[in-house]
Amino acid sequence: MAPEWAASMDDIYDQSDPRAYFRELEKLGYAIPNAAKPIFQELISHRRRRKSDTVHVLDLGCSYGVNAALLKHDLSMGDLYEHWSREGLADATPEAVIEHDRCFYAGLDEAEDIKVTGLDVSENAVAFAREAGLLDEAFAVNLETEPLPAPAEKELVSVDLVTSTGCIGYVTEKSFDRLLPTVTCGREPWIANFVLRMFSFDAIEETLSGWGYLTEKLDGQTFVQREFASVEEQKQVVEQMHEMGIDPSGKEMEGNLLAEFYLSRPKKDAADVPIERLVGCLRALST
Ligand SMILES: C[S@@+](CC[C@H](N)C(=O)[O-])C[C@H]1O[C@@H](n2cnc3c(N)ncnc32)[C@H](O)[C@@H]1O
Repeated sequence: MAPEWAASMDDIYDQSDPRAYFRELEKLGYAIPNAAKPIFQELISHRRRRKSDTVHVLDLGCSYGVNAALLKHDLSMGDLYEHWSREGLADATPEAVIEHDRCFYAGLDEAEDIKVTGLDVSENAVAFAREAGLLDEAFAVNLETEPLPAPAEKELVSVDLVTSTGCIGYVTEKSFDRLLPTVTCGREPWIANFVLRMFSFDAIEETLSGWGYLTEKLDGQTFVQREFASVEEQKQVVEQMHEMGIDPSGKEMEGNLLAEFYLSRPKKDAADVPIERLVGCLRALST
């Protein structure tokens, strides 16, 4: 269920194609997938060092395949906004848009050697991302209320990295509870979440800890998710942050919703690759 302040976004999450999604989010300067890209790339390269075959990413709350587009291709959010604001696309049918996008992505330089599986509650969004060739596998399921379907169980045992942007809040520890028995059967993926500061990660951290995961937050660094949609939204968020004991001055008070980065890894992996080494790389890449 959408948090109260985000209710106005729901109608753009499940359309036949992403035109409305990009149009509305561009107005708000939605930027978190772009900020996440170099960090996810760094994690993918760490996972690749441990194995020779294709790194398998599971993107939670994948929507129309935005993270898949950025991670597979040499594209930024700016490129995607430009792509989606082209006039020729405005009056096209959804079928024509899908065909156009399939050609667009297929015509780009060779894609990064990753497999991306997407999971999202929005059936139309994941269907689009699958048909456009961004997602290799896609599941429209709400793990907050339903178990993982059998085909997803089979698919997700080979996941190396779980990613999410803009998704925690909609997705809680309930979804991770349903995901962990399957994903930990195979390659014990690293789990990388960008989380708005207004959402506590504690319950998810506790759930992951039960599966032998250690969660670390990238301290001292915030990432712009998007601008506030209204003064009212900013007021509500700022109030909530005060109630949570988090100081929004100089941060959310300045006009943007801010996220932090949480990395959860099996304890032995956290010990093998000291977080300082990873954090050093991530800081350098994300400034
Ligand atoms: C702000 S969008 C972020 C989409 C994408 N990750 C990005 O950054 O562009 C939030 C997404 O979470 C999805 N969502 C909402 N509730 C969900 C749930 N229970 N399980 C999975 N996805 C959910 C929405 O359908 C939407 O695609």
